[in-house]
Amino acid sequence: MNVLAFNGSPRRKGNTSLLLAELLRGVRDAGGQAEVLVAQDLNLKYCAGCLRCNVLRRCALSGDDWQALSEKILAADALVFASPVYFHHLTAPLKKIIDRFRSFIQVQLTPESIRHTPWQPWSKSFVLLLSMGSSDAADAQPVIELFKFMTGILGNDTTLEVISGTRLAVAGQVARPAGELAALYEKLGLPAYLAVGDSCRNRELLQRCYDTGRHLGMQA
Ligand SMILES: Cc1cc2nc3c(=O)[nH]c(=O)nc-3n(C[C@H](O)[C@H](O)[C@H](O)COP(=O)(O)O)c2cc1C
Repeated sequence: MNVLAFNGSPRRKGNTSLLLAELLRGVRDAGGQAEVLVAQDLNLKYCAGCLRCNVLRRCALSGDDWQALSEKILAADALVFASPVYFHHLTAPLKKIIDRFRSFIQVQLTPESIRHTPWQPWSKSFVLLLSMGSSDAADAQPVIELFKFMTGILGNDTTLEVISGTRLAVAGQVARPAGELAALYEKLGLPAYLAVGDSCRNRELLQRCYDTGRHLGMQA
C-alpha cells in the first residue's frame, strides 16, 4: 500500500503533525510505503478557473509542482489530508490542492444541477485527519461535508475515514500527560478536572491514528 499524506498545518510540531506521524508509523510498521508532503512547502499555483481541464483532461497551468504531484496522487492507494480546522474548514494550502483536483474531473452543467465524472476510475482510501480547538467535533462539519462530496464524485470504490481530535489548542497538546494538561487547562480557562479524561482520550486518538495507518499499510 502506497500512502501519500498532505500535512496542512503550519505548525511543524503541532497536533496535526503528531497525529499524522502516528498514522504514518502504522503504515510503515505494516510494511506499507508512506510519503508526507507539507502542503505549504509545495510550489503550487492557485486554480486559475480557466476550465481548460474540461477539454485537456489535465490542468492547463504549468511552471509549478502540479504535474509531478498529480502523478503521485493518481499512483497512491491512499490519500491522507491532515489539517487543523481553521474557521470550520481546511487550511488554505490544502484547499489550494483540493481546487486543483478539478483537473481530475469532467464537469458538465445539467438543467437540474451539475454532473461530475472523473477522467479515470478512482479506487482509493481517503483519510481526513482533523485537529481542532473546539470541544465539539461538529465544528468541523463543513470540511467533512466537502470530503464526503469529493469522495462521492470520485466513485463507489473510494472510501473516506474521518478522524477528529477535539479540544486541542496548543502545539503538541495531544501528547501531553494529564498533569501538564491540567496546568494548561487552567491557563486556557478550562476546568482542570477534564485533564485526566482528556489525556486518556488523546492517547486513544493517537492509537486510532496508528491503527488506521497499520490497516492501510496491510492492504495489498
Ligand atoms: C486561524 C485559526 C482558525 C481556527 N478556527 C477554528 C475553528 O473554526 N474551529 C476550531 O475548533 N478550532 C479552530 N482553530 C484552532 C485549531 O484548529 C487548533 O488549535 C488545532 O488543534 C491546531 O492544529 P495544529 O496544532 O496542528 O496547528 C483555529 C485556529 C486558527 C489559528
